[in-house]
Amino acid sequence: MEFDPGYGADPFAALVREAPGAETYPVHDFRVEWGPIFHRGRLDGTARVLVIGQDPATHEAITRRILVGEAGQRVQAFLARLGIDRSYVMVNALLYSVYGQSGGEKHVSDPGIVGYRNRWLEALLTTSPIEAVVAFGHLADTAWQAWTTTGGPGVDLPYRPAPHPTQPESSSGGDPQKLAAAYQRLLTRWNEVLTDLAPAVAHPDAVRPLETFDVSAPPPDVPILPDDLPAGCPSWMRSVRAWASREGTDQESKRATIVVTVPTAERPWHAQ
Ligand code: URA
Repeated sequence: MEFDPGYGADPFAALVREAPGAETYPVHDFRVEWGPIFHRGRLDGTARVLVIGQDPATHEAITRRILVGEAGQRVQAFLARLGIDRSYVMVNALLYSVYGQSGGEKHVSDPGIVGYRNRWLEALLTTSPIEAVVAFGHLADTAWQAWTTTGGPGVDLPYRPAPHPTQPESSSGGDPQKLAAAYQRLLTRWNEVLTDLAPAVAHPDAVRPLETFDVSAPPPDVPILPDDLPAGCPSWMRSVRAWASREGTDQESKRATIVVTVPTAERPWHAQ
């Protein structure tokens, strides 16, 4: 099975070694106890599309790569429509998972957070022939805007902000009608972004006519590549079924606990 070789060489090795901690990401607003989670995708100079996400969640805390759960699999479907099946690289606006409602907004423009994120963007834009940039969600857009003010590499690349892939779930409060309307808004906007960015992607992995999303259905999931996860991750960690959740009887234990469950359909002992 393929695997992500990790952060062996500079500039990425140095970036990982020098990751900021609780002095930059305050413990009351970030889940620093789960460690920094850096990226997903190609660091070998083959990435053509740069994706900026928001902050990692439970599946990401276990796999040590970003955008692995539901949000990540929707992003994977978005990239596939551009013909990008593996030539992508993703970073989040925030290195640690946000704890509470407002931590992200409050800190996304803190100088220490911006400075370290910009080092990643500079490293990626210097080492990879990126042709287009897409930011999912408001914090990700803020992150790209902060980079453009530096005048550094890539600031003039074709860029579009897009709504965050799990915005429909977070905005609809479990109401199925609101959810369907939110899916429709999300995919309508994603289709506009796809149409805008497709001409910029001159070197896709596969040449396919642009097929936009059906806005009357939920966003599809595309499984992520084995090449994106650290060596030894079992294949069910790439499953589109949720397998990690925060559980606990009070705030303290819930913050300290992620329960990992092998999805029923992925249990090898049932296949025997
Ligand atoms: N997981 C991430 O790593 N980033 C997001 O934006 C959402 C989920």
